[in-house]
This record gives sequence, C-alpha cells and structure tokens, in this order.
Amino acid sequence: MDIEQLRAQTPGCARRIHLNNAGAGLMTRATLQAMRRHLELEATIGGYEAAEQAEEAVADTYRALAQLIGGRPQELALFDNSTRAWNAAFHSVQFRPGDRVVTGRAEYGSNVLSYLQLARRLGVEVVVVPNDGQGQIDVEALGRAVDERTRLIGLSHIPTGGGLVNPAEEVGRIARAAGALFLLDATQSAGQLPLDVERLGCDLLTGTGRKFLRGPRGTGFLWVREAVLERLDPSVVEIEAATWDGARGFTWAPGARRFESWERSYVNVLGLGSAVRQALALGMEAIWARDAMLGDRLRRELELVPGVSTHDLGRVRCAIVTARVEGVAAQQVRRRLAEAGINVTTTVAEHSPFDTEERGVHPLVRLSPHYYNTEDELSEAVRVVSELARS
Ligand SMILES: Cc1ncc(COP(=O)(O)O)c(C=O)c1O
Repeated sequence: MDIEQLRAQTPGCARRIHLNNAGAGLMTRATLQAMRRHLELEATIGGYEAAEQAEEAVADTYRALAQLIGGRPQELALFDNSTRAWNAAFHSVQFRPGDRVVTGRAEYGSNVLSYLQLARRLGVEVVVVPNDGQGQIDVEALGRAVDERTRLIGLSHIPTGGGLVNPAEEVGRIARAAGALFLLDATQSAGQLPLDVERLGCDLLTGTGRKFLRGPRGTGFLWVREAVLERLDPSVVEIEAATWDGARGFTWAPGARRFESWERSYVNVLGLGSAVRQALALGMEAIWARDAMLGDRLRRELELVPGVSTHDLGRVRCAIVTARVEGVAAQQVRRRLAEAGINVTTTVAEHSPFDTEERGVHPLVRLSPHYYNTEDELSEAVRVVSELARS
C-alpha cells in the first residue's frame, strides 16, 4: 500500500488526524467526484433522467457489494443506514410467542431495543450468551443456549464500543446445525476485514457505507441469502418491493429488492459504489493486515502511558481502540484531542446495553484508525493523551 498516495487522494488527511473511522471514514476525491458529477447531472437534466443514465453505475454498486461479501448482486438491498437494513431483516422474520432470540454481550444498542420490543410485543425470549475468558461470545455456551425454539441468532461482529472481533464463523456453524437464522451485524467489520458470507455461515448480513468502507453518510445495505428469502416476510411493502397483481393481491419483487424503497439518493448509491470499488482494488486482506497492525500499535502505545488503560476484549482485535485516562472524563479527553486537530469519539453506555450490564466501563475514549492513517499520527494522539494523563 502506498500510504502517501492514498493520503493524497483523501482531502481530509491534510486537515485533521482522523481517528474516528468507526464513526465515519474519510471519503476519497474519486468518491466525492462521482457524487458531485451525479448531483450536477440531476440539476442539469432532471433526477429521473440522470438515474436512467447512471443505470449501469448503480448496478455496479450492487456488484461491488456482492463481491465484497461473497454474495450475489440480487441478494443485496440498499438502505440509508445499517439500522434500517438490520430492522428490515429482523422484522421480516415471522416470530411466534415462545420463540427464542439468542445474542451476545457485544450486541449493538438499537438491535437490543428491537429484541426488547419483540419480547414485549410477542413474549419472545431474549437469551444473552456470556463472554468466554477472552471476552468474545462463548461459543460453547452459545451451543447450549440454541435449541429448537431458537428462531434467530443475532450477533454484532465488531461492537460499537470496543476492538473485539467476535468469532462469527463459529457462530455460523452453530446456527446452521440448529437450523436457526443467523443475522450478522457487520457494520463495523465491512471495509475493515474480509467478509465471506459462505464462510461466515450467516443468512442475513447488514452494513453501513460511511464507516470503514469510506462511503458517504446515509448509506447502508442488507444481504439476504437467496435460500432463506421465502422464510421471510418483509414488514414494509411498497411499489419497489412488490407489484400489484391487478386484483386484490401482490407479488414480491425478486431477490432482496423486496426490502427496498422506491425513492433513494442516487448520489449516495454512486458514492457507495465508488468507495466499495476502492476497497476491493486495495484488497480486503491488505486493509485488514494494516488496520489490525495500527490497532495493536495504538493499544500498546497507550498502555505504556502511566494512568492510561485500554479496554478492548477478545482474542482477535481490530482497529477500534478504547481507552480511559485516570481521573479525566472521556469527553474531556475527546475535547483536548479535538483542540489538537485529532478526531476521536467516546463510547456510550446505552449503545452497548448487554456489555454495560456486565462491565460498566463506558464512556471510554474511542480511537479508530484506518489504513490511511500513519504511525506518526498515532504517536501524536498518544502524546496528547499522555500530556493529559500527567496533568
Ligand atoms: C455494531 C453496530 N451496529 C449498527 C450500527 C448502526 O449503524 P448505522 O448508524 O449506519 O445505522 C453501528 C453504528 O455505530 C454499530 O457500531
């Protein structure tokens, strides 16, 4: 990877030390151009006419995403964020009272709220599998928790609040053996590490465009395994998702398009396509190798600072690093870093409810580099943090 060249193609690198890729990654000039071009076209010839001209590029966004995760273009539906994509998947499952939903401690806050809503609405039982000694989902305990009542296993591959990479493939094997649906929330893993839905063994996978994929805000996607489509009943039906049959019935659109809405931002779809193509061109193995290295390095450097601790769980850890500075509030650390031109954010207890129940460590400072960050940038962030720790 030519880091200098990648940075030159990323306008934001000239202005900030951007360590908030788990929030939103920096877009490249090429992605910006693809979006600007289409916006101009919409204003010049009309929105519908511009969409018609961009038909092939739009189709390419689906192809690129399919290639990214090892699925097929017709198995993909586009959304305006990951949460909507996840909810479209979750609420298409035909749960019955007494069913079980099994999940882990790392589950994302919005997913947890949907589980709680379903429990309240239908009496579905929500089972939270404990972590193992290394802080990832305990796959043996998961195997014991999954029974014939288990309709769905929901797993956040990488949580919002830490560097853990959950052993999704092992979870997939358990789901398959039990005949339960496996919904993988890959919001923080898409664009950060290689994903292959066959190896992962998931039936449904959701992701967002703006984070490690470096796409625009307002983009998300759902992948649905073709073989499970007929077991699902999308909760929203409209003119993109289905066709009126001329009488008092309708037919679902083929493939995952039945989850989509007719109206969308074509500018964003094209931006997402551009960003995914860039990730594919660099290669997800190479991106992951560098991201994992930067995460490890940042964690090690922070741990060396007296008064600073890191709090990432799991056997495999990614480029999300969470830290605490003794005696200094996380928000204060974030503000000090922002004053120094360094973007980071803080974790929120309510965004990781089942983790909070157990650890109660949030809020923490969350630093999330990506392959285009340099080792010097990490050291600069550590220097600012160590000044605060000394004060
Ligand atoms: C693990 C995880 N899942 C889901 C989401 C929600 O993604 P979005 O904001 O695109 O809806 C996030 C956002 O931070 C996340 O970290």
